[in-house]
Amino acid sequence: MSISTSSAIEQQPAILGGPKVRTEPYAEWPVAQPYMMDKIKEVMDSGEWGVGSPYIEEFEKAFAQFIGVEYCGSCVNGTEAITVALRAAGIQQGDEILTSPYTFIGTITPIMGMGCVPRFVDIHEDTFLMDPDKIEAEINEHTKAIIPVHIAGCPVNMDRILEIAKKHNLVVLEDCAQAHGAEWKGKRVGSIGDLGTFSFQTSKNMSSGEGGAVTTNSLELSRGVFAAKNCGRVPDGVWYGHELYGTNLRLSAIQAAILIGQICFVDEQNAKRHENATYLESMLSEVDGIQPIAVNPEGVTKHAHHLVLFRYDSSKFEGLHRNHFLEACQAEGLDIDEGYVPIYSQGCVHRYSEWPFIKPLLEKRGIDFKSMHFPVVERICGEEGMWIHQSLLLGPKADMESLVEGFLKVQKHAGEVKKKFD
Ligand SMILES: Cc1ncc(COP(=O)(O)O)c(C=O)c1O
Repeated sequence: MSISTSSAIEQQPAILGGPKVRTEPYAEWPVAQPYMMDKIKEVMDSGEWGVGSPYIEEFEKAFAQFIGVEYCGSCVNGTEAITVALRAAGIQQGDEILTSPYTFIGTITPIMGMGCVPRFVDIHEDTFLMDPDKIEAEINEHTKAIIPVHIAGCPVNMDRILEIAKKHNLVVLEDCAQAHGAEWKGKRVGSIGDLGTFSFQTSKNMSSGEGGAVTTNSLELSRGVFAAKNCGRVPDGVWYGHELYGTNLRLSAIQAAILIGQICFVDEQNAKRHENATYLESMLSEVDGIQPIAVNPEGVTKHAHHLVLFRYDSSKFEGLHRNHFLEACQAEGLDIDEGYVPIYSQGCVHRYSEWPFIKPLLEKRGIDFKSMHFPVVERICGEEGMWIHQSLLLGPKADMESLVEGFLKVQKHAGEVKKKFD
């Protein structure tokens, strides 16, 4: 389609004083639905609010069925879901875990919390996902697991991950926090590796405000999951028997109630997100210098579009830096962000490397997070990457059009905007 050169485009960008391209709010998220309210009331009336509640079991069964696995253990959030999964898999202090540097800190804190070493694998510029070609170079005798992160709701190439994991005897823990309902070659993420972890935090495609889950097809791993989030109890043990190490990381029945009613809407909402993401991708062919990350990559049979990722080319915007472009877009009323910074550059990762038990181990293995550099993730985070959120994709097509209209308007005035920041 062709973007109208409306009068708004002809005016000065808002950052230079003119009116905004967009003043109306985007689609709201999350939205309370009557079916959630009914289920919450049912739980409240039942008096079964916490541990042992049939509503928690109902949710776990329904979510396991949705993902296509035998077992699901719910828990407090997507971060602790990873801790639970690592514990269930028998990961020990000092073990190395391969993962992506382009992710939320919640992928890394469990690794550090377990006293393990995150080993980063640079991302691919076409996907912003861990680059399968770079994984094997990071494997050594300490490597015990790999956490592919399905960032933005786009599955990592799981054929490659499984092949490498098999060769090196690694546990595969899929971080599906952003990928509810996404599929790799017809299989839902969370059912492909040994374990899958999910987040139901407010912004996610499925939300109970906070919440998480671990999925698996292994009975043995499911027992470990049960113990790790349930004070170390084993499924058939006595109440005051605490066989394994675990703490209380349980979901409440009220959160389960909110989630039960959502499962049947996830596919429908993802389909709407896909329709709008595809529309946006087609329109962006008209904006020289903004490249959306593929909406239909090979092997991905369903994309959850938790985010739409873009690459920005400042040379097509008179050298305007990505951050200044984003400031100008935000001043136009567009909801767009720069996204993550390389996770190994975070202060908490540097501080972790100073902890007395981990410092000598990192030194011995030649790992220094402070001087670490991975070129692709640094270029994407520092200069090229940007994103919009899933909820924007639930709005009408006109919302996608206003986004492109805003991009074109800022592009037209890029020189003036740049001067403002020089
Ligand atoms: C990729 C990824 N992993 C893990 C998490 C952690 O989930 P939570 O916020 O529920 O702890 C998130 C949440 O934003 C995430 O995006």
